[in-house]
Amino acid sequence: MQTIMNRPIVFSGAQPTGHLTLGNYLGALRQWTAMQADHDCIFCVVDLHALTVRQDPVQFRERILDLAALFLASGIDPEQSVIFVQSHVPAHAELAWLLSTFTMMGELDRMTQFKDKSRSHAHNVNAGLFTYPVLMAADILLYGTHKVPVGEDQKQHLELTRDVAVRFNGLHGTVFVVPEPLVTGGGAARIKDLQEPTKKMSKTAESDLAKVMILDEPDAIMKKFKKAVTDSLGVIRDDEEQQPGVVNLLNIWRAARGATMEEALAHFSHHQYGRLKVETGEAVVALLDPVRRRFQELRSDPKELEGILARGADQAMERAERMMQKVLTALGVPLQGSRFPIREQGRP
Ligand code: TYM
Repeated sequence: MQTIMNRPIVFSGAQPTGHLTLGNYLGALRQWTAMQADHDCIFCVVDLHALTVRQDPVQFRERILDLAALFLASGIDPEQSVIFVQSHVPAHAELAWLLSTFTMMGELDRMTQFKDKSRSHAHNVNAGLFTYPVLMAADILLYGTHKVPVGEDQKQHLELTRDVAVRFNGLHGTVFVVPEPLVTGGGAARIKDLQEPTKKMSKTAESDLAKVMILDEPDAIMKKFKKAVTDSLGVIRDDEEQQPGVVNLLNIWRAARGATMEEALAHFSHHQYGRLKVETGEAVVALLDPVRRRFQELRSDPKELEGILARGADQAMERAERMMQKVLTALGVPLQGSRFPIREQGRP
């Protein structure tokens, strides 16, 4: 067994914008929980990122706690991993500013998520939406992160994070670890919308039938799968171009069951779409039902939850401050005494 100090550092986060979907669960959360045993994991509710879209303050506060509870309900163990809220550690915003001076406008302009979001929020294309990936780079680089488990939609942001780290290190010496993205395998990296299966399943999709939420009741899950859009070809094959809806269902079934595409095809290829829809729904209910029950328990005790987040913030803050000390020193900014008391030098 490796000691904590030798384990690779893992950082990942999710935005508290509405409840999470099956895509978030299969593409991220389930992978996070599996990494805890042999990695030094830090998981973050990225509330500052979510503020790039207008939020209702009362609802936002609840959503932050909901997401933290969902992390725990999915199996993140606060005794093993650090779990905290981004805004509780001011160094995230501070490092984002510093890194924005190492990020080029052209790089940010190429981000497909920015392009998508400026279309879907055309009335509020704020500067935060544009610099969003810089804050994400700060989240990751602040902790000396080695691996970042994400769904496929975040890969481009990860590449930018690596470029910024390399640029900074090239100018100021090796301060940052250059992180590796870890995109989930087994068909879970890009779970698609059930109504428009060429798009990713997104928690902000307008139609309820398009997305399965982690907290949906079993009846609702079954209804959504039964109404999932397929095609009129009437055969079950792995042909993403011609049959994106069918391939999405196969991917969800095999991600939920831990099966390969070959196994999924062997299981379904002689059946009709109805069977594929029902069995996929059932596999998802079996996966999510325990998570929903545990979530309800955790949410009924806000004090306990807030205590876990306060401890997580202290742990994250201590590590973040060590990195800030290195970054500010590398940039030539004098360190201020009360913020950086002399302490043992360790890894960030
Ligand atoms: P967010 O909140 O949109 O999603 C959280 C995680 O879920 C993954 N994901 C999916 N995976 C498979 N299929 C889908 N349909 C699907 N939809 C979402 C995302 O890839 C992500 O891993 N910018 C990030 C949050 C963030 C972050 C970070 C992540 C902020 N700082 C630092 C990693 C490291 C985001 O908006 O994720």
